[in-house]
This record gives sequence, structure tokens and C-alpha cells, in this order.
Amino acid sequence: MKTILITGGSGLVGSAIQRKFVPEDGESELVFVKSSEFDLTSLERTREMFVTYKPTHVIHLAACVGGLYKNMNQKVDMLEKNLLMNFNVVKCCHDFGVQKLVACLSTCIFPDKTTYPINEDMLHDGPPHTSNDAYAYAKRMLEIHCQAYRENYGDKFVCVIPTNIYGPNDNFNLEDAHVLPALIHKCYLAKKENKDFIVRGTGTPLRQFIHSEDLAELMMWALENYDGKSLILSVSESAEVSIGYVAKLIAKAFDYEERMFFDESFSDGQYKKTADNTRLTDLLLKNHSTVFDFIKIEEGITETVKWFIENYENARK
Ligand SMILES: NC(=O)c1ccc[n+]([C@@H]2O[C@H](COP(=O)([O-])OP(=O)(O)OC[C@H]3O[C@@H](n4cnc5c(N)ncnc54)[C@H](OP(=O)(O)O)[C@@H]3O)[C@@H](O)[C@H]2O)c1
Repeated sequence: MKTILITGGSGLVGSAIQRKFVPEDGESELVFVKSSEFDLTSLERTREMFVTYKPTHVIHLAACVGGLYKNMNQKVDMLEKNLLMNFNVVKCCHDFGVQKLVACLSTCIFPDKTTYPINEDMLHDGPPHTSNDAYAYAKRMLEIHCQAYRENYGDKFVCVIPTNIYGPNDNFNLEDAHVLPALIHKCYLAKKENKDFIVRGTGTPLRQFIHSEDLAELMMWALENYDGKSLILSVSESAEVSIGYVAKLIAKAFDYEERMFFDESFSDGQYKKTADNTRLTDLLLKNHSTVFDFIKIEEGITETVKWFIENYENARK
């Protein structure tokens, strides 16, 4: 019997795994854990979780996550909570003999001054941007920790590195959230209050987004099939889209395009942060002889906006 424990089971990615994967073989079970059940910043509670569920496999998603504002204003939490959670989960995976761990990093933890596209081998090649250094260093230590157990004990602990993620059940808070869910909430309020939908900056910066359900599928694939060094999980470079295009798709989904404007008095941030997913696509081709069919951003945003409108009362915001 395989028991797959998913930390951060109530979050954006955890809930996508929950929607997409219902074990049917009777040979495996999925356990989704949230912070109110086990606070993973406590080693004692983390050990109790492993004693309770006896997982054979772990997908570690739990993290203190947020957009620019949260990364800058809550550095101590971003550092301490993530270091503690990651340390406790990885250590318990080893101590309790977990057969496979897939842990989650992020492309935003790469060096600030680098060349593009970034690839997996460049993760530790320089300091991250100062705005998110606390989060980034905590995540980088997760990679080092997994690698140390792989090298010293042969543990199958791997890390995956997603680009920006979006989808239903995201955090839509206007202060804390990532750019795409924050824009959805902003457009929702603008329409409700009959105001203009103002997008900060010129809209030209390019980003790569992956739908949470695509990521869910790739994480489950990695759990079964991937045993190597860290792996970038992303749609291809050619699917890079501008923030302006994302905002237009959001406005269109709300039928509010005429009221959308850019406020160019705000700075744009980095123009692009292209990540190279060649290692992933080569592996997928080798495994499946087929190209992974990513959810198109146009379709994903329409569906996420619909979800937000229908679930406004209970959405995280
Ligand atoms: N969102 C993105 O754009 C993005 C991009 C790249 C990488 N990532 C990474 O992807 C993973 C999943 O992110 P997400 O967007 O799904 O995050 P999320 O929606 O913010 O969910 C975070 C999860 O972590 C749990 N958690 C937080 N503090 C905890 C604690 N002290 N003890 C136990 N659980 C705790 C939360 O549980 P409760 O809800 O019960 O508190 C929640 O289930 C994270 O590792 C993140 O760093 C995210």
C-alpha cells in the first residue's frame, strides 16, 4: 500500500492535486494536510504527522508564500517559517524512511543578476533579488538539504521548480497575492464599484505561468518517474506572456475591457525572467513519446475568473 502525503494540501497546488487525483487502484491513498491539523514549523507536530499517517511518499508544498509586498514586509516570517517547515519535513522524511520526496522550490529564487534563459544548474550562482531574499534563501536551503540526503544516504529526495502558478483556490488578497490573482480581484472590485481597472506599469514585462492542475499532474509524474537533480516545471519559453496580455484576458473574462488602463507612473520591475524547461520536455518525450498538453493561458484565466466570481464569499482574499 502506497500512502502519498501532501503537505500544503489546502493551498493552490494541493487543492489542484485533490481535484485531479482520486486513487482508484486500492493500492494507494492520498492524504492532504493543512496547517490547522499539523503546524509544520514545529518538529514535534511534524513527527506526530508522520507517526499518524506513516507516509511512503511525500509531496512537500507547504510554505509561507506571497507576492512582492509580503516578501518585502514579512521577511522574518518568510525566512523562519519556511526554514523550519522545510527542515522538519525533509528530516522526518529521512527518519521515517519515506521512499520518495518531491519538494517544491520556485523560479523566483534564482540569482538576480544572471543570463536568460535560466536553467537548473544556475540556482546557486549568485544572490537572489533583495526584495525576496529571505524566501529565496530558505527555499535554496531546501534544495541543499535534499541533495545532502541524496548524496550521503541515497534518499530519493528531489526538488521541482515551478514558474508562476495560477488557478482556482489561489490567494486573491490585494496586498499579499501574486500578480495574476491580485489583478483578478482588482478587476472584480473595479467592475463592482463601476471604477476603471488600473494596471500598474506599462504591461510589457514577460512572465511564464503554469496552471495549478498542470503542475499537479507534473508533480505526480515526478513522484513516479523523476529521480535526478532539481527540475524546472514550466510551459515552454515560447509561451511567455506579457503582464498586459494577462490583464487584458482578465478584463475580457469580466467583460470589462473598455475600462482597463495602464498607469505608467509605476515601475515595471524586471522585463523578463525566462526559465528553460528543456530538461523537463526531454524527459517527458522520453517517458511518453508525446508533448505534454498544457492548459492554454486564455482558457485557464477564463476558468479562474469564473471560479473567483462563483466562490467570492469563501475565496482567500
Ligand atoms: N503560487 C505560486 O505562484 C508559486 C510559484 C512557484 C512556487 N510555488 C511553491 O509552490 C508550493 C505551493 O504553493 P501554493 O501557491 O499552493 O501555496 P498556498 O496556496 O499559499 O498554500 C500554502 C499551503 O501551505 C500550508 N502551510 C502554510 N503554513 C503552514 C504551516 N505552518 N504548517 C503547515 N502547513 C502550512 C497552508 O496551509 P493552510 O492553508 O491550512 O494554512 C497551505 O496549504 C509552495 O512551496 C510555493 O513556494 C508557488
